[in-house]
Amino acid sequence: MTLSPEAEAARRRTFAIISHPDAGKTTLTENLLLAGGAIRLAGAVRARGERRRTTSDWMKIERDRGISVSASVMTFEYDDCVFNLLDTPGHEDFSEDTYRTLTAADSAVMVLDAAKGIEPQTLKLFEVCRLRDIPIITYINKMDREAQDPFALLDEIEQKLALSASPLYWPQGSGERFRGMKDLRTGEFVTYRRIVGADGAVTFATDRIGGNALAEVMDEAEQEELAGQADMAAGVCPAYERQSYREGHMTPVVFGSALRHFGVKELLDTLRAEAPPPRAQKATVKGQPGEIGTDNKEVTGFVFKIQANMDPNHRDRIAFFRMVSGRFQRGMRLKTAQGKQLGVTSPVMFLAQDREIADEAFGGDVIGIPNHGALRVGDALSESGTVQFAGIPNFAPEILRRARPKDPMKSKHLRKALEGLAEEGVTQLFTPEIGADMIVGAVGQLQIEVMAERVATENNLDVLFEPAPYNVARWISADDRAKLEAFAEKNRASMAKDLDGAPVYLAKNTWDVGYVQDKNPDIRFTKTKERA
Ligand code: G4P
Repeated sequence: MTLSPEAEAARRRTFAIISHPDAGKTTLTENLLLAGGAIRLAGAVRARGERRRTTSDWMKIERDRGISVSASVMTFEYDDCVFNLLDTPGHEDFSEDTYRTLTAADSAVMVLDAAKGIEPQTLKLFEVCRLRDIPIITYINKMDREAQDPFALLDEIEQKLALSASPLYWPQGSGERFRGMKDLRTGEFVTYRRIVGADGAVTFATDRIGGNALAEVMDEAEQEELAGQADMAAGVCPAYERQSYREGHMTPVVFGSALRHFGVKELLDTLRAEAPPPRAQKATVKGQPGEIGTDNKEVTGFVFKIQANMDPNHRDRIAFFRMVSGRFQRGMRLKTAQGKQLGVTSPVMFLAQDREIADEAFGGDVIGIPNHGALRVGDALSESGTVQFAGIPNFAPEILRRARPKDPMKSKHLRKALEGLAEEGVTQLFTPEIGADMIVGAVGQLQIEVMAERVATENNLDVLFEPAPYNVARWISADDRAKLEAFAEKNRASMAKDLDGAPVYLAKNTWDVGYVQDKNPDIRFTKTKERA
């Protein structure tokens, strides 16, 4: 049976996992794919990561530091839903990249380590979700180890995130004494059993039993404890409300042990039943502000990430395109709002371990579009070319460096390389109005290192990155064009253009920006810029 594009979109769940390093994101990802039947063997995600690290010597940094710089997407089906899991890079320096990835997600799963609760990186990523009203399901992981008291964990979510936490399940014990969790809505119990085989090998099994069969898995004292705690939870914790979750005020909480495959199915079931299908996106259509929902007939979507060299043998780039509406078919011609045309002949879908050619895609899906630099982060694509989506920002860099080739004859070559990286969104490039400097900007130091490494290995350029005479960059705008031009003229020595030609004010420090701002109240100095 062929479903309408709208019905296809409605069964998509496009989500990201946010967590502090080591909370168990990789393990959970593997087990979600396993539960979804996308991979046969847990460990495949990590193995693939390692294989990639050894085969792609272009990214030495990735190997040296043992971190994954690239984010990707994994698609799998479970029940009647298609799940698109967006992988957010874990390193804190990559907040800009992570932020953009989250613009493509409709919801998030927050993984907490049951012994540690909310950690700094969780908090940071949570703030990004809040900014974009992304609803969050909480998965409290590692219950097979000694955990904090569940009430304390829920309280911490409420206190630190100002998010009301509603447990859908209640755990009994933790560590050696972990027995499983009670489904607070049905009264059933999801068991966690340790089974020692005849050969002494230990395995873990889980199943659902009725609330009156608890004696099978725990002693009387434990039964009493569970009854008391579950009663108390029902009394003091807020009851789950879907609307409140979807508006970002409440988080449903599931407990589990990703390593032992426990609570993963329950998490998937919660995502399937509760997480929002693709939402309408703010957009300008034919110059008019509005929204595009999945009921829109035309194929539309936006590029939220560009990745180079996924295949080290080819100098291709993959643009990650998040579909918003329509039925995409392989071979379609799509247009950007800036008038570029693109025949999409070999779009890629990312199945658990492989890339495959996508013949069709719908709202909520992410496809990779190979291209040689035609597409940029923030580009919208549509059949008509009249659509531009809002909300994929550039951030004011916190580190600025002057880039200079050791061989002055290679200046043009270097500019081209830096422009390429800026188009990918790796770093930003500013060109001062006066002189021939190239100023690169990044939100974090690691971004600068990634850039330096890539310029050296891919472009074979010997480049010096020196301290720049400026430390702060702000985009400027004004309602009155004449005033903006007058300001730019008067401050030419501090003015630069970004990759799109938008005016940027470069300053020594924030104090300097504040001072100039006070003197020029008609000019707006902003820390983020969205593609117009
Ligand atoms: P991350 O992607 O969030 O950084 O975390 P990752 O999944 O790599 O997990 C970090 C460590 O925590 C790993 O151990 C992993 O095995 C362990 N872990 C994840 N989930 C659970 C869980 O539910 N229970 C327990 N007990 N441990 C869990 P490691 O020793 O650092 O790595 P490895 O040698 O096991 O691969």
